[in-house]
Amino acid sequence: MQISMESILKEIEFERLSPFQRAVKRALINPLANYLPAGLLKDLLRLGKSELAAANWVNPGGWRSMVISYRGEAKEPADRILIKGGTIPMALRNRRKLAGRVIAELIDACQSQPVHVLCLGAGPGHIINDALARARRQADATLVDLNPDCFEYGRQLALQMGTADRIRFIQGDARQVKTMLDRPIDVVKMIGICEYLDDAIIVDIVSAVAGVMRPGGAIVFNSISRAHGTDRFFRRVFGLHMIHRTDRHLEGLMAKAGFADFCRLDEPLGVYQVIVGRVKR
Ligand SMILES: C[S@@+](CC[C@H](N)C(=O)[O-])C[C@H]1O[C@@H](n2cnc3c(N)ncnc32)[C@H](O)[C@@H]1O
Repeated sequence: MQISMESILKEIEFERLSPFQRAVKRALINPLANYLPAGLLKDLLRLGKSELAAANWVNPGGWRSMVISYRGEAKEPADRILIKGGTIPMALRNRRKLAGRVIAELIDACQSQPVHVLCLGAGPGHIINDALARARRQADATLVDLNPDCFEYGRQLALQMGTADRIRFIQGDARQVKTMLDRPIDVVKMIGICEYLDDAIIVDIVSAVAGVMRPGGAIVFNSISRAHGTDRFFRRVFGLHMIHRTDRHLEGLMAKAGFADFCRLDEPLGVYQVIVGRVKR
């Protein structure tokens, strides 16, 4: 299952920031967001009817806020700044493109058909839908999430994407995957989940996952760096506490469960890395 990572990066149309935009964010926008009183910022976002802020206040970093960032649309001025120009929402859209493309390539590089993809902390499944729609080989996916709130939205999305007969949703804890599956897994997707979990839970999940994968199967996950420059804002104003880890740290956790041969792809804002590892058994 070898794929050409370099060619993937060249083909994707990413969102980028110019050196001037980066400088303005660093010198002006990020300090204001990080250090203005949190109450004032919350009032401004409430007044500006920010859909992204409201979604985070209900469930910080939950699937709804992801969907709002992925859509990239904004009715209100506050959201035009946050969603269209915010570094994290831009980086999330980049990560979606990158991960969807990588998973499609991994599906096409599999020997067996249909390829079975397991998505953990899947939310409604935007990334796997992108991948299934792009992949040429026959593939289907099992989407597992603790929170079943996202499944109805996910089913509608799959209908729109023409993948409804290839996607099934299961409510449950990713640590219990063994009890949820009827055949081995070729590709595991853990995008947008590790930054919300502590080290011990990640190791428990990937240990369970390694036991249900075909030998040599791929796991796709992401790291997050502090390059977005607004962690203090997200903690104070959105109540969002993400755990920033280096690629090496995450790979070390995956290695405890038998994963190796890691390969990393950076999205151009330097916030997320999409990482592919292989299970050694
Ligand atoms: C931020 S959302 C990401 C959704 C999707 N992966 C994406 O990137 O758009 C994280 C999801 O992980 C789920 N989650 C967290 N811990 C989990 C666990 N132990 N087992 C299954 N799902 C979990 C949450 O319910 C949430 O829907």
